[in-house]
Amino acid sequence: MNILVTGGAGFIGSNFVKWLHESAPEVSITNWDALTYSGNLENIKELLKSPRHRFVKGDICDHNLAEELIAKTSMVINFAAESHVDRSIDGPQKFITTNIQGTFNLLESTRKINPKIRFVQVSTDEVYGSLGSTGKFTEETPLAPNSPYSSSKAAADLLVRSYHHTFGMDTITTRCSNNYGAYQFPEKLIPLMIFRAQKNESLPVYGDGKNIRDWIHVLDHSRGVWAAATKGKSGEVYNFGSDNEWENIKIVKELLKILNKPESLITYVKDRPGHDRRYAIDSSKAQTELGWKPEISFEKGLRETVNWYLANTEWLTSVTSGEYQKFFSKWYN
Ligand code: NAD
Ligand code: TYD
Repeated sequence: MNILVTGGAGFIGSNFVKWLHESAPEVSITNWDALTYSGNLENIKELLKSPRHRFVKGDICDHNLAEELIAKTSMVINFAAESHVDRSIDGPQKFITTNIQGTFNLLESTRKINPKIRFVQVSTDEVYGSLGSTGKFTEETPLAPNSPYSSSKAAADLLVRSYHHTFGMDTITTRCSNNYGAYQFPEKLIPLMIFRAQKNESLPVYGDGKNIRDWIHVLDHSRGVWAAATKGKSGEVYNFGSDNEWENIKIVKELLKILNKPESLITYVKDRPGHDRRYAIDSSKAQTELGWKPEISFEKGLRETVNWYLANTEWLTSVTSGEYQKFFSKWYN
């Protein structure tokens, strides 16, 4: 089985392809990634010589490449995206292009080349908007995205829905809560705080620090995406989360404790505009229908994640320098 994974050099995509390569020897992976600032061949360097993994550098908006790669695959899994809310506030255009136009190009090329293959859209719980202090997002919760990032993801989800309903395409949509783990670009909360605390720099906590996210380990998410891809019912949406809600300030304090750094590094800064207050996921559908459940406890996962960043300072330096692209250019095609 040959699957086409987009965005497989980013945080979640790279964890997914490495996990799948090891867990499913019958699967060959074509990994299509534009290597934007958050995509990095260091993340997948152990796969670059594998006969079951081929890396293709390119943009998911490229029609010709989409048709060429989709013709050789039996499943598309779309992780590629602009993924950071703050960047979507600073400059939304790229989010519209990659997340909406790019997904549209993949759907349309699949419809044209082989409409029978399964198309998996990796989406986010952020499409549901923000919760008050009670309740959880289910797959029935109406979409109410609040940032340019989440609205571009919601638009892509609706395109996927329409390609199932109108053209009968075999689609699956996954919506997961906040991921943490190794290889996350150090602009997101957890790696940013580790990166800065290590250098004794101030830790910028937005607003009152009491916004809540439901954190899941990236490998639990990866197993969920594959369970949905292989066992999910056509046209359905599956939520993934870990029942693990934390206020941001509590996570930052926990990280400081693990790192043995003082709380005086914490600095409250101006809130993010439109900042969603709380996310919480009900993943009972995935648990019942796919036989999936989260397996990595936050206590163990967070400690291992901190240790990974401490042991991989060269990775941190290289992904923040841009040098890695030159270094790995021999692997491009
Ligand atoms: P990331 O930013 O780390 O990785 C995105 C990858 O997509 C990068 O490798 C980048 O080079 C690639 N990419 C960007 N634009 C591209 C384009 N036009 N063509 C080809 N490749 C392109 O993001 P991530 O955190 O790994 O997120 C992956 C997916 O999972 C996204 O679709 C995101 O919306 C979704 N998601 C993320 C989280 C989270 O907590 N990070 C939670 C739920 C869902
Ligand atoms: P982030 O990792 O950007 O994920 P998302 O916005 O997609 O949930 O942020 C997680 C939470 O942490 C969010 O409530 C914003 C907050 N945050 C800070 O307080 N300071 C920071 O420097 C960052 C990057 C995020």
